Amino acid sequence: MLLFQGPRAAATRVVRRVAGLPSPLAGRTVLITGASSGIGRATALAVADKGARVLLVARRAAELEAVREEIEDAGGVAEVFPCDLTDGDAIDKLVKDVLAGHGAVDYLVNNAGRSIRRSLDLSYDRFHDIERTMAINYMGPVRLTMGLLPAMRAQKFGHVVNIVTWGIQIKAPKFAPYIASKAALDTFSRIAGREAFFDNVTFTNMRFSLVSTPMVAPTEAYSGHGETPEHAADRVVRALEDRPLTVNTRVADLVEVANVVAPRATDFAMALAHRVFKDSAAARGKKS
Ligand SMILES: NC(=O)c1ccc[n+]([C@@H]2O[C@H](COP(=O)([O-])OP(=O)(O)OC[C@H]3O[C@@H](n4cnc5c(N)ncnc54)[C@H](OP(=O)(O)O)[C@@H]3O)[C@@H](O)[C@H]2O)c1
Repeated sequence: MLLFQGPRAAATRVVRRVAGLPSPLAGRTVLITGASSGIGRATALAVADKGARVLLVARRAAELEAVREEIEDAGGVAEVFPCDLTDGDAIDKLVKDVLAGHGAVDYLVNNAGRSIRRSLDLSYDRFHDIERTMAINYMGPVRLTMGLLPAMRAQKFGHVVNIVTWGIQIKAPKFAPYIASKAALDTFSRIAGREAFFDNVTFTNMRFSLVSTPMVAPTEAYSGHGETPEHAADRVVRALEDRPLTVNTRVADLVEVANVVAPRATDFAMALAHRVFKDSAAARGKKS
């Protein structure tokens, strides 16, 4: 019963471990976007290691081929689907090709994304920051999900994991376009999960904190911080296996409570942090 997904998943995990049973991902088809780098690449390797057939999506074909080779060298199965997920026609073609080859995708990881850390006072003439983040973090994953959802619902099984951000709960300054685009996906998916409830199609929003990947490299303040992509990937695998509604951090949970019970005091604390932690050289348009 989906109603008891959380406790049942925990109990199943224990039984699986004790009995040495295979992962529920074994033999399943898992499509991962942004599989050429960072969290997506590490997740692709980890999911393949669980015995899943992995469909690798991103723009850079050569990087995807390298991931496919690594998976196949380890005895796994993977296919490469180069695609620009800001191009609606390209997404429609991806959906057509994937459904033609596999009938349905069992698991979808909407991971491809773009982060921008820049104050609004450096952004007044940069409306393209809003458009670009919405295109890759919201429109792309929603179009892909809408393309794959009918087949998931028809087969009465499917799970979608969205890689979003703890910023949705924190509402951190300097990230307005980025966090708003991820919050849109988070909300869309929560509602989609309600509509697809009786078809056994579920959604997880993974609200990650800092992960040490090429995406955060331009921000000097993050240098040397954050969990590894491999550690993040282990948590994505767990979310795929257990299908929780959300994966949060304790810190973001606390800030979310503060945002509700003491909104003005939290605004004050965030405004101070905004003043102390400056825009990076990259955000100011400088090399260093
Ligand atoms: N790193 C963090 O601290 C952190 C924290 C919270 C959430 N996240 C989220 O985690 C996800 C993965 O990010 P990451 O940190 O692993 O960064 P990353 O290493 O830069 O990976 C980003 C991935 O997105 C793909 N991508 C970007 N634009 C694309 C497009 N138009 N079409 C298709 N694929 C595209 C890239 O592939 P190509 O360039 O080959 O297309 C790449 O594989 C993102 O959604 C990010 O917002 C990251």
